[in-house]
Amino acid sequence: MRSPFAYSNTSPEGFRAVAPADPVRVRSETIMPNTVLIGAQWGDEGKGKIIDVLTAQADMVVRYQGGSNAGHTVVVAGRKFVLHLVPSGILHPGKTCVIGNGVVVDPLALIAEIRMLEQEGVTVRGRLTVSDRAHLVLRYHNALDTADEAARGDSKRIGTTGRGIGPAYRDKVCRCGLRMGDLLERDFPERLAANVVDANRALTALGAVPLDAAGLQKTYAEAAQVLAPYIADTIEIVHAADRAGSSILFEGAQGTMLDVDFGTYPFVTSSSPTSGGACIGTGIAPNRIQRVVGVIKCYTTRVGEGPFPTELTDALGEDLRQRGGEFGATTGRPRRCGWFDAVVGRYAQMVNGVDLWAFTKLDVLDTLPVIRICTAYELDGRNITTMPASLAAFQRCRPVYEEMPGWLQATSRITRYEDLPLQARAYIERLVQLIGGKLGVLSVGPGRETTLRLGL
Ligand code: IMP
Repeated sequence: MRSPFAYSNTSPEGFRAVAPADPVRVRSETIMPNTVLIGAQWGDEGKGKIIDVLTAQADMVVRYQGGSNAGHTVVVAGRKFVLHLVPSGILHPGKTCVIGNGVVVDPLALIAEIRMLEQEGVTVRGRLTVSDRAHLVLRYHNALDTADEAARGDSKRIGTTGRGIGPAYRDKVCRCGLRMGDLLERDFPERLAANVVDANRALTALGAVPLDAAGLQKTYAEAAQVLAPYIADTIEIVHAADRAGSSILFEGAQGTMLDVDFGTYPFVTSSSPTSGGACIGTGIAPNRIQRVVGVIKCYTTRVGEGPFPTELTDALGEDLRQRGGEFGATTGRPRRCGWFDAVVGRYAQMVNGVDLWAFTKLDVLDTLPVIRICTAYELDGRNITTMPASLAAFQRCRPVYEEMPGWLQATSRITRYEDLPLQARAYIERLVQLIGGKLGVLSVGPGRETTLRLGL
């Protein structure tokens, strides 16, 4: 990605303008470069909090993939918001928000979220637009998600969130999906009914209960009326904002290891959470993105099934879960916990082009006398630092660890990086050295004030 900016991990802004490559796009030192924010692990890295911090510098926040499988938790003035579809920028007055074409949108979930926000006093109308090209998640997608999972059985179950994500993306790729813009067309009820016939055939074959097309037609006709003012051509909206010199934040959901191409396939989600997904999922061109921020936890978690080399299945894993509050924001499921995996981090740095890292949840490790870092995998007697494509090979990988001393001291009240215990700084600096990129943020607690900013 071409960048008119030079970055420094020591300046408080994290970048300074030098000789802009594009004369139309002259930015001052205080303006944030267009930024993609991604998760580097298996989701739940704490992106919501970092997005919230970055949103203060952005004019527009755009979601580009996933759907209501995501759950971004943001605490504002002591109030906790969990957002599944609407970008968390909505919690900052004056910011505009976009749900891009790459997102799959459950219209009923979106309406529920808009209503929840408005009840909490947040203005949504006039500040949120949803792409007319975004595919719909309809009730039959949820039913198929659940039925598919049941049919896979224990050994092949993906552990999806049950939000209809896979079946909705399947319809998109099969070219039979219905899109947000279709919701407003006269022939929508007819097209919906045709899809329900097909879905019912599949549901019946899976032993699940078929759905009533007439009931769904009525439900979605009502939803269309509510959502009509929000549906627009967001490609034009995003480009107009960019032309006007606005700072745009592209907000990724899930994480690199859940990416349908780069993750632990088939134990992945059905979209592209990596930075490249921002182009496909919004219509922004690669050379209009100037910075990639990666969010990564100081240890690793995963929710759902699939391989996880550094998983701790013992009391220590349980301790991390409790201390880190590692329970899913969307499903409430307990997250699997383990040591930091630098092979994953290095891979994520590479495929996303991470410029700056936001490390989160350092404080969760405060009580550990010894901390392990996975620096390589042992695969069939050989050490590797690359990510195997084959699931069978990945399942055979054993972590190779190095150990570092813990700091055995509370860090969550520390507000300056320099004031952290020496061992804590040594740990973070070792992680950055192993995975590449630069340190931009270190988070030591859930609130905004617990964010130590270095280069971001
Ligand atoms: P789906 O996205 O619901 O199809 O689920 C596929 C896999 O991605 C499952 O392992 C889910 O647990 C995981 N997943 C989906 N969304 C998230 C998320 O926001 N955080 C963490 N894991 C997720």
